[in-house]
Amino acid sequence: MKLSLRLAIAALMMVPLIAAQEDPSPNPAPPAPAPGPAPVQPQPPAVGQPTATTTTTGPAPTTSPWTPSSTPNYPPEPLASRDSPSFPDPEYVKLLEYMFLFYEAQRSGKLPADQRVTWRNDSALNDGRDAGLDLSGGYYDAGDYLKFIFPLTFTLTETCWGALEFWDGYVLANQTHYLDQMVRWGMDWLIKAHPNDNTLYVQVGLGEIDNNYWGPDTGIPLPRTSAKVTNTAPGTDAMADASAAFASCSMLYRDKLKDSTYAATLQTHATSLFQVAETARPQQEYQKVAIAAKCCYESSGFVDELAWGAAWMYKLTQDLSFADKASTYVGQLNARSVQVNAITWDDKTALVYILMTGASPAGRRSKWQDLSQQYADSVINGAKPNMFTEGGLFYSNENSNADSAVVAANAAFALQILSNTMNSTGSADRDRIDKYRDFAIKQVEYLLGENPERTPYVVGVHPNSPINPHSAPASGGVNLDKINTEPELERWTLYGALVGGPNRYDRFSDVRDNWEQTEVALDYNAPFNGLLAYMVSTATSSPPYVTIPAGRPDLPPILNGMDIWKIILIVVGSIFAVVAIGAVVCYRKRDQIRAWAAARRQRSTEKSTPKYVVKRAVPPPPLPARTGGRERDVESLQVGQGQGYGREQPTLLQDVQRQTDKLPIL
Ligand SMILES: *[C@@H]1O[C@H](CO)[C@@H](O)[C@H](O)[C@H]1NC(C)=O
Ligand SMILES: *[C@@H]1O[C@H](CO)[C@@H](O)[C@H](O)[C@H]1NC(C)=O
Ligand SMILES: *[C@@H]1O[C@H](CO)[C@@H](O)[C@H](O)[C@H]1NC(C)=O
Repeated sequence: MKLSLRLAIAALMMVPLIAAQEDPSPNPAPPAPAPGPAPVQPQPPAVGQPTATTTTTGPAPTTSPWTPSSTPNYPPEPLASRDSPSFPDPEYVKLLEYMFLFYEAQRSGKLPADQRVTWRNDSALNDGRDAGLDLSGGYYDAGDYLKFIFPLTFTLTETCWGALEFWDGYVLANQTHYLDQMVRWGMDWLIKAHPNDNTLYVQVGLGEIDNNYWGPDTGIPLPRTSAKVTNTAPGTDAMADASAAFASCSMLYRDKLKDSTYAATLQTHATSLFQVAETARPQQEYQKVAIAAKCCYESSGFVDELAWGAAWMYKLTQDLSFADKASTYVGQLNARSVQVNAITWDDKTALVYILMTGASPAGRRSKWQDLSQQYADSVINGAKPNMFTEGGLFYSNENSNADSAVVAANAAFALQILSNTMNSTGSADRDRIDKYRDFAIKQVEYLLGENPERTPYVVGVHPNSPINPHSAPASGGVNLDKINTEPELERWTLYGALVGGPNRYDRFSDVRDNWEQTEVALDYNAPFNGLLAYMVSTATSSPPYVTIPAGRPDLPPILNGMDIWKIILIVVGSIFAVVAIGAVVCYRKRDQIRAWAAARRQRSTEKSTPKYVVKRAVPPPPLPARTGGRERDVESLQVGQGQGYGREQPTLLQDVQRQTDKLPIL
C-alpha cells in the first residue's frame, strides 16, 4: 500500500511466519541472555533523544527539555504492579509524549529551533518549485519521503477530534503545547497546499522514485513532482477530506487551544474546500486526476468523504443544512451497501455516524445512534468480515492484513467516542456504553503488550518494542537491497511510532522489509493518540508492558491458524483413515481379489517373457539435450537446494506457510 511493487513483493517474499524464533524466551525469574541474533536491549539513543522513563513510581516525566542519555535504561525485570499507579499514570503520560515525538520525526522542510528529534535534518526545501509555489514543510507520510494529502488530512481530523473528545488527558499530561505544534505543523502546510479556493495540492514526490530510495533525509532523490486537483479537474474526496481536517482543527483552536484567529483562518479553508468538493464536476476520486497517487493511496469512493466533510461542517457551524447533507450522502452510501467497512484513511462511513450522533440535537439523534450502534455491535461481536484473533485483537480481514494495529486502533477510537457520547447524552443503554468502552480498552492493552508476543507495538517503550521499524530516516541504512541487515541495528529509535502490528495469528516479525508489520505512518498514530489521552485521564492501572519481562515467548509455529501438532494429528489421522477404509474395502471384496490374483498368477506363468528383465538391465537414458524443460527443472532443483541463496531466503516451511496464510481459515 505504501511501497512500490518492488518492495511489496520483496516484503511478501520475506515475511517469516514463524515469528519470535529470534527472540529469547526467558521466564520471568532469570533473564537469560539471548543466544539468538536479536538484541534484547535497544540501541543507545543518539544524542538529543529522550531517555526512556524507567519507573512508574517516580515523578511524572518532564516534557521539556529532554534530558539526553547515553545509555538505554530499560527495566530488566517487571517494573511494578499495574494496579498501583499514581494519577495520572506516568507511563501513559510518557506514551502520549512519545506520540508527538513520532510526528516530529516525520517533519519535512526547515526544522524549527525547538525541534526535539535532533537526528533529523532540514530536507526537501524546494518542494513546490515545479509549480512555482513553496510546498516545503508538512510531514513525510510513512517510512519514506513522500507527502500525501489524503492520509494526512485523515490523520489531522482524527487528531483534532481525539483532542476535542479527550482534552482532559492532554491537559493532565501537559501535552497541549505539543498537540498544538503537531496540528499546526500540518495545518500550516495544508494552507500552503490550498493556495486558492479552486486548487488543492495532493501529493509531493513520486512513488516510483522514492520507493527505490533508502537513505538519509539529506539525499532524497529528485524530481519531487507536485500533483494537484482543481475545480475543473476535481478530486472530490481529497477536497472534502481536507475540509473535514480544516473544520475539526478549527474547532480545536476555537474551543480548546483558544486561538480564534487561527481558528477563523482554518474555517475559511474548510468552507471553501467543502463548497468546491460539492459543486465541481465531475465528482470523482482524486487519483483520476492525480494519477501519481495510485501508487499508494487510491481512494475507493468519494461519497463517504462528502458525508464526513458535511458532518464536520455541521459540528463546527451547527448549521442544519450541513446535517441534511450528511444525511443525504449517508443515504447514498447505504443504498449501495449494507455492510459498514473497517475505518481506515479510505473509509470514514462509521465515523460519520458517530460524529453525527454527538453533534445532533436530541430530536435528530436517534437515527445516527442506531447506525452507530449497528456498526459498533458488528465490531464487538466480530461479525463478518470482522473477527478477533485468538489473542484478542480486533481484525477486519483484508484491511487488517497490512496494518492490523491501526484497524484495531481506529475501531477502538470510534467505540470509545461512541461510548462517551452515549453516556454524556444520557443514553440509558448502560450495557452498550460499558461494552464499547471495554472493547476500546482491551484493544489499547493488546497493543501495549497484553498479547501472545508480549510486545508493545509502540517503538521505544520496552525491550520487546519493535526495534526495526520500516523507516528510511530512522534506520540509517543506505542500501535498499540490504534493508534488513545494513545497519544491523536501527540507527535511531523512532520513539512513539505505532507499527503495522501482528498478523491474524498474533505473530509479529520485527524485520524492516516486512512493511505490513513494521512500517510506520502518520495515520497509524492518529487514533492511538486520542486513545492514550483517554487512558491518561481514566486509567486505574498502568499499561500492560510494565509487568512484562524482557524477551518474547517462544510461540509454537502456526500453519494456517493451527498449531503444528494439530496438523500432524490430522495428517496421521487421515493416513490411518485411508488405510482403514482400504482394509475394509479389501475385506469386503476379498473373493474378487482372490480370483483376480489367481488369474494374474496364471497369466504370468503362461507368458513369462524376458521383457521385464531386459527392461531393468537397460541403463537409464542420458539426460536430454541441453535445451528444453528438463534442464530447467534440474537447475531449479539445484537452486531449491540452496545454491545462490542468501540468508534472507525463506525456508520451505515458511514459504508454505506464507501461501497458506493467504487462504481462508479452516
Ligand atoms: C509543561 O510543559 C511545558 C512546555 O510545554 C513546560 O515548560 C512546563 O514546565 C511543563 N510543566 C510541567 C509541570 O511539567
Ligand atoms: C542528517 O545528516 C547527517 C549528516 O549529513 C547524516 O549523517 C544523517 O544520516 C542525517 N539524518 C537522517 C535522519 O537522515
Ligand atoms: C457518564 O456521565 C456521567 C455524567 O455526565 C459522568 O459523571 C460519568 O463519569 C460518565 N461515565 C463515564 C464512564 O464516562
